[in-house]
Amino acid sequence: MSEEFEPRVIAFCCQYCAYSAADMAGSMRLQYPSNVEIVLIPCTGRFDVILALKAFEAGADGVYVAGCLVGNCHFLDGNIRAQQRVDYLQKELKNIGIEPERLAMYNLSASQGPRFAEIVNEFSEIISRLGPSPIKKNLAA
Ligand code: FES
Repeated sequence: MSEEFEPRVIAFCCQYCAYSAADMAGSMRLQYPSNVEIVLIPCTGRFDVILALKAFEAGADGVYVAGCLVGNCHFLDGNIRAQQRVDYLQKELKNIGIEPERLAMYNLSASQGPRFAEIVNEFSEIISRLGPSPIKKNLAA
Protein backbone atom coordinates (compact mmCIF):
# COMPACT_ATOMS: atom_id res chain seq x y z
CA MET A 1 0.00 0.00 0.00
CA SER A 2 1.18 3.49 -0.75
CA GLU A 3 2.93 5.22 2.15
CA GLU A 4 0.90 8.32 1.42
CA PHE A 5 -2.35 6.70 2.43
CA GLU A 6 -3.61 8.29 5.61
CA PRO A 7 -6.62 6.39 6.87
CA ARG A 8 -9.69 8.22 8.01
CA VAL A 9 -10.91 6.75 11.27
CA ILE A 10 -14.16 7.50 13.05
CA ALA A 11 -14.32 6.61 16.75
CA PHE A 12 -17.62 6.48 18.61
CA CYS A 13 -16.63 7.24 22.19
CA CYS A 14 -18.75 6.90 25.30
CA GLN A 15 -18.81 10.17 27.23
CA TYR A 16 -18.07 8.51 30.58
CA CYS A 17 -14.90 6.64 29.72
CA ALA A 18 -13.35 6.76 26.26
CA TYR A 19 -14.12 10.43 25.72
CA SER A 20 -12.64 11.31 29.11
CA ALA A 21 -9.64 9.12 28.35
CA ALA A 22 -9.22 11.03 25.06
CA ASP A 23 -9.31 14.27 27.03
CA MET A 24 -6.69 12.94 29.39
CA ALA A 25 -4.49 11.84 26.47
CA GLY A 26 -4.76 15.40 25.17
CA SER A 27 -3.87 16.94 28.55
CA MET A 28 -0.92 14.59 28.83
CA ARG A 29 0.15 15.67 25.33
CA LEU A 30 0.36 12.07 24.21
CA GLN A 31 1.10 11.57 20.55
CA TYR A 32 -1.43 9.83 18.36
CA PRO A 33 -2.46 10.23 14.74
CA SER A 34 -4.68 13.20 14.02
CA ASN A 35 -6.73 11.23 11.51
CA VAL A 36 -9.19 10.03 14.13
CA GLU A 37 -12.51 11.83 14.33
CA ILE A 38 -14.14 11.36 17.70
CA VAL A 39 -17.91 11.20 17.88
CA LEU A 40 -19.22 11.62 21.42
CA ILE A 41 -22.06 9.29 22.32
CA PRO A 42 -23.78 9.03 25.73
CA CYS A 43 -23.04 5.30 25.98
CA THR A 44 -21.87 2.70 23.48
CA GLY A 45 -25.33 1.17 23.88
CA ARG A 46 -26.36 4.01 21.57
CA PHE A 47 -24.08 2.64 18.85
CA ASP A 48 -25.81 0.64 16.16
CA VAL A 49 -25.19 -0.89 12.77
CA ILE A 50 -26.67 2.10 10.93
CA LEU A 51 -24.24 4.50 12.62
CA ALA A 52 -21.32 2.34 11.54
CA LEU A 53 -22.56 2.00 7.98
CA LYS A 54 -23.14 5.75 7.74
CA ALA A 55 -19.60 6.35 8.96
CA PHE A 56 -18.24 4.04 6.24
CA GLU A 57 -20.49 5.70 3.69
CA ALA A 58 -19.19 9.10 4.82
CA GLY A 59 -15.67 8.00 3.92
CA ALA A 60 -14.26 6.27 6.98
CA ASP A 61 -11.64 3.63 6.27
CA GLY A 62 -12.10 2.24 9.75
CA VAL A 63 -14.59 2.64 12.56
CA TYR A 64 -14.29 1.77 16.19
CA VAL A 65 -16.43 1.98 19.27
CA ALA A 66 -14.84 2.71 22.63
CA GLY A 67 -16.81 2.13 25.77
CA CYS A 68 -16.48 1.59 29.48
CA LEU A 69 -14.84 -1.51 30.88
CA VAL A 70 -17.09 -4.55 31.04
CA GLY A 71 -19.15 -4.27 34.23
CA ASN A 72 -18.69 -0.48 34.43
CA CYS A 73 -21.22 0.79 31.88
CA HIS A 74 -23.30 3.58 33.44
CA PHE A 75 -26.32 2.13 31.69
CA LEU A 76 -25.56 -1.40 32.88
CA ASP A 77 -25.12 -3.34 29.65
CA GLY A 78 -24.70 -0.75 26.90
CA ASN A 79 -21.15 -1.88 26.19
CA ILE A 80 -22.22 -5.53 26.04
CA ARG A 81 -24.94 -4.69 23.51
CA ALA A 82 -22.45 -2.61 21.51
CA GLN A 83 -20.02 -5.53 21.42
CA GLN A 84 -22.80 -7.77 20.09
CA ARG A 85 -23.56 -5.26 17.34
CA VAL A 86 -19.90 -4.97 16.44
CA ASP A 87 -19.59 -8.79 16.30
CA TYR A 88 -22.70 -8.98 14.12
CA LEU A 89 -21.55 -6.29 11.71
CA GLN A 90 -18.04 -7.75 11.47
CA LYS A 91 -19.61 -11.00 10.22
CA GLU A 92 -21.79 -9.12 7.74
CA LEU A 93 -18.82 -7.12 6.45
CA LYS A 94 -16.92 -10.35 5.93
CA ASN A 95 -19.89 -11.83 4.06
CA ILE A 96 -19.81 -8.98 1.57
CA GLY A 97 -16.04 -9.11 1.12
CA ILE A 98 -15.01 -6.26 3.38
CA GLU A 99 -12.30 -6.83 5.97
CA PRO A 100 -14.02 -7.19 9.37
CA GLU A 101 -10.94 -5.61 11.01
CA ARG A 102 -12.19 -2.27 9.73
CA LEU A 103 -14.60 -2.31 12.65
CA ALA A 104 -13.55 -2.81 16.26
CA MET A 105 -14.59 -2.33 19.84
CA TYR A 106 -12.39 -1.32 22.75
CA ASN A 107 -13.08 -1.00 26.44
CA LEU A 108 -11.22 1.36 28.71
CA SER A 109 -11.68 3.51 31.77
CA ALA A 110 -11.71 7.31 32.01
CA SER A 111 -8.26 7.24 33.62
CA GLN A 112 -6.63 5.40 30.72
CA GLY A 113 -5.43 8.32 28.64
CA PRO A 114 -2.27 6.45 27.56
CA ARG A 115 -4.38 3.45 26.55
CA PHE A 116 -6.58 5.73 24.47
CA ALA A 117 -3.53 6.97 22.54
CA GLU A 118 -2.33 3.39 22.15
CA ILE A 119 -5.70 2.33 20.72
CA VAL A 120 -5.66 5.14 18.15
CA ASN A 121 -2.15 4.13 17.11
CA GLU A 122 -2.98 0.41 17.01
CA PHE A 123 -6.17 0.83 15.04
CA SER A 124 -4.70 3.36 12.61
CA GLU A 125 -1.88 0.93 11.89
CA ILE A 126 -4.33 -1.88 11.16
CA ILE A 127 -6.31 0.35 8.80
CA SER A 128 -3.16 1.67 7.14
CA ARG A 129 -2.17 -1.91 6.35
CA LEU A 130 -5.64 -2.65 4.91
CA GLY A 131 -5.63 0.45 2.70
CA PRO A 132 -8.59 2.57 1.65
CA SER A 133 -12.05 1.25 2.37
CA PRO A 134 -13.64 -0.59 -0.57
CA ILE A 135 -16.93 1.10 0.36
CA LYS A 136 -15.38 4.51 -0.20
CA LYS A 137 -13.77 3.36 -3.46
CA ASN A 138 -17.07 1.96 -4.75
CA LEU A 139 -18.99 5.11 -3.83
CA ALA A 140 -16.42 7.24 -5.65
CA ALA A 141 -16.60 5.06 -8.80
FE1 FES B 1 -19.84 3.94 28.84
FE2 FES B 1 -22.17 2.65 28.64
S1 FES B 1 -21.76 4.42 29.78
S2 FES B 1 -20.30 2.23 27.64
